[in-house]
Amino acid sequence: MPMSLRLHCADEAATVALGAALARALLQHDLPGALITLRGDLGAGKTTLVRAILRGLKVTGRIKSPSYALVEPYAIDRKSLELKGTLQTYAYHIDLYRFSSPDEWDDAGLREMLDGQSLCLVEWPEHAPALLPQADVDLAFKPAAEGRAIVLQSGSALGAALLQQLASAQAGA
Ligand SMILES: Nc1ncnc2c1ncn2[C@@H]1O[C@H](COP(=O)(O)OP(=O)(O)OP(=O)(O)O)[C@@H](O)[C@H]1O
Ligand SMILES: [Mg+2]
Repeated sequence: MPMSLRLHCADEAATVALGAALARALLQHDLPGALITLRGDLGAGKTTLVRAILRGLKVTGRIKSPSYALVEPYAIDRKSLELKGTLQTYAYHIDLYRFSSPDEWDDAGLREMLDGQSLCLVEWPEHAPALLPQADVDLAFKPAAEGRAIVLQSGSALGAALLQQLASAQAGA
């Protein structure tokens, strides 16, 4: 059953806390391959949220916005996160704001990245609607009187399970 959640993030700290909660939900599922899309205006808080997810997966060092590079890859050390399976999982932070031609898709290696094995966090998915697979979770950032409203929608069983976890974490918070 598709699931949707509407949350209010009053300030940047709340957006960061949501990213951390999403990372915890992913870790509870042993960090599976997943596609998470983030939509919203320039400056809505998409990169802020992605950064918080990556920090929750113990990515250290600089996490810069991939607005120009299109993709920033991160090797996630599964062992230090006490996860099963292989030693590394890749997380790809993708920003399609400047994406214009389908040729770029293969040139940038996006097809391989989106093969379901890795965690893909994609800003501006609406710039490549025909090329992206169905997201497990889609987040839509909307301006609110104070801060942002964020609507999260699941597009798969995994996505629904992640949102379920998020909802119970919020209820317990
Ligand atoms: N819930 C919030 N309420 C108010 N401000 C926020 C909130 N979350 C993030 N911000 C602030 O809004 C800005 C968001 O910038 P960010 O780079 O994350 O946006 P973006 O959606 O990735 O934009 P772009 O489309 O240009 O990549 C930052 O300055 C951040 O501090
Ligand atoms: Mg951004």
